[in-house]
Amino acid sequence: MWDPQVYQLYRDERSRPFYDLLARVGSHAPAHIVDLGCGPGNLTVTLSQRWPEARIEGLDSSAEMIESAAARPEVRSGKVAFAVGDVLTWRPPEDVDLIVGNAVLQWVPGHRDLLRSWAGAVRTGTWLAFQVPGNFEAPSHQLLRELSASPEWAGRIDGLRDGGAVWEPAEYAGDLLAAGCDVDAWETTYLHLLPVRPDAPHPVLAWMEGTALRPVKASLADRPADWARFREQLQDRLAKAYPVRQEVVAFPFRRIFLVAHKA
Ligand SMILES: C[S@@+](CC[C@H](N)C(=O)[O-])C[C@H]1O[C@@H](n2cnc3c(N)ncnc32)[C@H](O)[C@@H]1O
Repeated sequence: MWDPQVYQLYRDERSRPFYDLLARVGSHAPAHIVDLGCGPGNLTVTLSQRWPEARIEGLDSSAEMIESAAARPEVRSGKVAFAVGDVLTWRPPEDVDLIVGNAVLQWVPGHRDLLRSWAGAVRTGTWLAFQVPGNFEAPSHQLLRELSASPEWAGRIDGLRDGGAVWEPAEYAGDLLAAGCDVDAWETTYLHLLPVRPDAPHPVLAWMEGTALRPVKASLADRPADWARFREQLQDRLAKAYPVRQEVVAFPFRRIFLVAHKA
């Protein structure tokens, strides 16, 4: 289950890649935009500030996220709508001008095939813009995988992401070029300086609770004491890998960006 409040704890840090991604989309007046895996919708609604005439749809498989998104005042304008739906079964409508997927495709197995098929199917002039994390080999993920595989937890935790969750920028770019798109591909490592808060967990643990730790929490849902112990053990490891300096923790985070325009 996704928790919109926990996810939005680091709202600024999580928003920046969305703006960096959209800055490279050159569409002047898209009439129809779809934001796949729109989450709580706070970023989706910014699309209507840039393109006020566009009809914007946000789609997410989490009912909790869509409930939170649908409560946004922008929905009353009739230009922005949110619905529950799965990226896996979604197909681009004929009239779509811009497809956005910010930090969602890493959760969708086989999404490289989906991207190829979307890029092949859309009409000339359509834009595709997506961003995925490229940090699955970072200490945060490695420590999570190591702990999950340790004798106490082995076989009890499902659904963790690993390096196989995403591909390299050049691999996505090759697919999109082959589908007849002009492509802009890049990667960035952000250095998030996460403040240490009194009475709050280590900031990297707090960050991971919004995303990477969700499968652990779900796997241990019927044993809250085990979940608390797992969290504590991970926190000890993260504190060593990401030490506090000057009341902040430096958390490098690599992300992969692709913008394609069907030529
Ligand atoms: C890390 S959040 C990103 C949310 C938003 N795009 C943002 O940038 O703030 C990932 C979102 O993808 C959604 N998601 C995961 N798998 C999905 C799928 N197969 N279909 C639709 N949404 C999915 C989750 O429910 C979650 O809201």
